[in-house]
Amino acid sequence: MPTTLTIKQPDDWHLHLRDGDMLKSVLPDTARHFARAIIMPNLVPPVVRAADAVAYRERIMAALPAGSTFEPLMTLYLTEASSADDIAAAADSGLIRAVKLYPAGATTNSDSGVKDITRVTDVLERMAEIGLPLCVHGEVTDPDIDIFDREAVFIESVLEPLRSRIPGLRVVMEHVTTSDGVDYVKSGGDNLAATLTTHHLMINRNHIFKGGIRPHYFCLPIAKRQSHQLALREAATSGDKSFFLGTDSAPHLDGAKESACGCAGVYNAPNTLSCLAHVFEEEGRLDNLESFASLNGPAFYGLAPNVNTVTLEKRSEPVEYAASVQTAEGPVTVFDPECALHWHVS
Ligand code: DOR
Ligand code: ZN
Repeated sequence: MPTTLTIKQPDDWHLHLRDGDMLKSVLPDTARHFARAIIMPNLVPPVVRAADAVAYRERIMAALPAGSTFEPLMTLYLTEASSADDIAAAADSGLIRAVKLYPAGATTNSDSGVKDITRVTDVLERMAEIGLPLCVHGEVTDPDIDIFDREAVFIESVLEPLRSRIPGLRVVMEHVTTSDGVDYVKSGGDNLAATLTTHHLMINRNHIFKGGIRPHYFCLPIAKRQSHQLALREAATSGDKSFFLGTDSAPHLDGAKESACGCAGVYNAPNTLSCLAHVFEEEGRLDNLESFASLNGPAFYGLAPNVNTVTLEKRSEPVEYAASVQTAEGPVTVFDPECALHWHVS
């Protein structure tokens, strides 16, 4: 087994940076390791119009540590009132790289999302014409559908009919959590890809309830049973170009998670690369870490891979990550993979 691994610098194809003090506190953890990230637009209010994305991008750039070359790749939040012309102009100018579909009510700050996908057909058709990817939170919101089945039902009842109607639409199924999602992406051709999160590779639903309820493992889509976790690990480590890293690092204040009605989201930006090296080594596929973290994502988005490299070094002493980051409003707990991490990043 190698003890050092040098790969092209990774990108994060699904990231929540928030705004204000939280943005300032969490951005350095991503900018330290990643060259670029697709920035989720689910602020309050959401990033809907091109002008919102311009302003948000400026706030991100202002919050970057001095000397950082990190590049935020902006997205717009799709609503039933979104304008195809506004979106096309934002894509044409290079301001945005994707549009995000949140089914209304599916997750954190998704109230302005889409209730009826057929009402955004004109926007989606224009996106297909110009090759602008749609990033999809793939869960149905019907409360009668069991929370563990919402991804599989979404594929069958929303995504497959949509892709049949608009086959030219480029789609990223975000944070796939099931073998159903993996199988669908594998059979989906060149216009379909998926991101996988760090935490869904390391935990399954048992972790959420181990010895009590563990709010810091609660995210959406919720972690599924172990057989699904194993399917995700196989997809991530296989080298298949349809799968790439989207951490879904989603910071919430501890008080908002450790609550009678806790928020969904796992904050994994600080230790993601050490976690991934750990997973890929366990699977005997360290040779495919670069494809997953650094090559497959840019290829799908039509961008060149990064020129810089990062080196991961396996040391006998575990690498220590702070258990939480401090923000002006309180701590945010960092993802705990519940195992010693030996891969240091430099
Ligand atoms: O767990 C999640 N947290 N899933 C999402 O889809 C949104 C995210 C957030 O914004 O906190
Ligand atoms: Zn997310």
